[in-house]
Amino acid sequence: MTVLVLGAGLIGGLTAQYLADRGDSVVLADVREGIAPQGVRRVLCDVTDAPALQTLMQAHGVRDVVHTAAWLSTAIRQDPLKGIAVNIMGTAHVLECARLLGLRRVVLASSTTVTYTGFAAHGPVPIEEDLPMRLISDRPASIYAACKLSGEHLAHLYHDLYGIDTVSLRYAAVLGDLDNITSVPGRLLQTLVQAGRSAQAIALDDPFLVWGGREEFVDARDCARANVCALDAAAPIQRVYHVADGQWHSLGDFVAAVQRIYPGLKATWPADLTTGFAGFPHQRPAPSDHRKAQSELGFTCAHALQDSVAHWAAKAH
Ligand SMILES: NC(=O)c1ccc[n+]([C@@H]2O[C@H](COP(=O)([O-])OP(=O)(O)OC[C@H]3O[C@@H](n4cnc5c(N)ncnc54)[C@H](O)[C@@H]3O)[C@@H](O)[C@H]2O)c1
Repeated sequence: MTVLVLGAGLIGGLTAQYLADRGDSVVLADVREGIAPQGVRRVLCDVTDAPALQTLMQAHGVRDVVHTAAWLSTAIRQDPLKGIAVNIMGTAHVLECARLLGLRRVVLASSTTVTYTGFAAHGPVPIEEDLPMRLISDRPASIYAACKLSGEHLAHLYHDLYGIDTVSLRYAAVLGDLDNITSVPGRLLQTLVQAGRSAQAIALDDPFLVWGGREEFVDARDCARANVCALDAAAPIQRVYHVADGQWHSLGDFVAAVQRIYPGLKATWPADLTTGFAGFPHQRPAPSDHRKAQSELGFTCAHALQDSVAHWAAKAH
């Protein structure tokens, strides 16, 4: 029986590697060609092509899916319609294949950006997955977040209506490989590491790379392990979980973590920022509650911010 990992990017690649290392049969599929991790078969597949997806699953005897294929927020801002097609219809195709083929479990990559919507009205207690949300005034603050929320809703409905076993994982802002950047947190770390290596002074003025208050980060290695825990969990009840470690960091904390590796780094940024992370309008009022991920999936993060920054900075070319 095979696990199909959709999306051979940062998190999908690490997930496939993790599964292969423990002896699982793994197929890694992406719309782009690329190198397969050791022990993994890599194939071409576009998640917007439902018949091709179904054929692929049948050909490889797929039993479980980890679906990470998506357009991230920066790409989706440039071509919303194509991004919506990949992120919403692609997810719908995965769920529909699970229904038609009777797959065992589908793990979907979601994002804590779906909770940013409730920041303005939320108090200082950790933000639960099942956060109260007013449909109009607390609506998602980006098309990307709306796609992720749609995916969660579709997954819940495929479970309720058709009995499909789904788990959605909301990763915090992910830190990983700096040589293939598609995400805002990746761009932030890459910018600081490059400035640190050349001991340059840098003025952070891109509104997507600065934030007031504090934000959560998670290591891509932890996201991969969370995916595997979600595949293995005996009885996921809530079906939506935060992948975060309960720590939240100011921009000053983040810069300091990079400065511990590159003491010559000097960075400045606008004072009195009122926006939140990645240009979102509100600042985070509390960290995400991750207790259900621990109790239902047996998952806790292993890599704190400093460890993550050091690991990925050292690997970058
Ligand atoms: N990186 C983050 O900060 C972050 C945070 C929260 C959630 N997520 C989610 O985690 C998942 C993985 O993110 P990542 O950081 O690995 O991103 P990534 O960009 O590294 O990987 C996404 C992969 O999806 C592939 N893809 C795009 N369109 C496709 C299509 N039509 N068919 C098949 N493959 C396609 C891309 O080629 C890419 O390899 C995504 O769903 C993302 O939304 C990421």
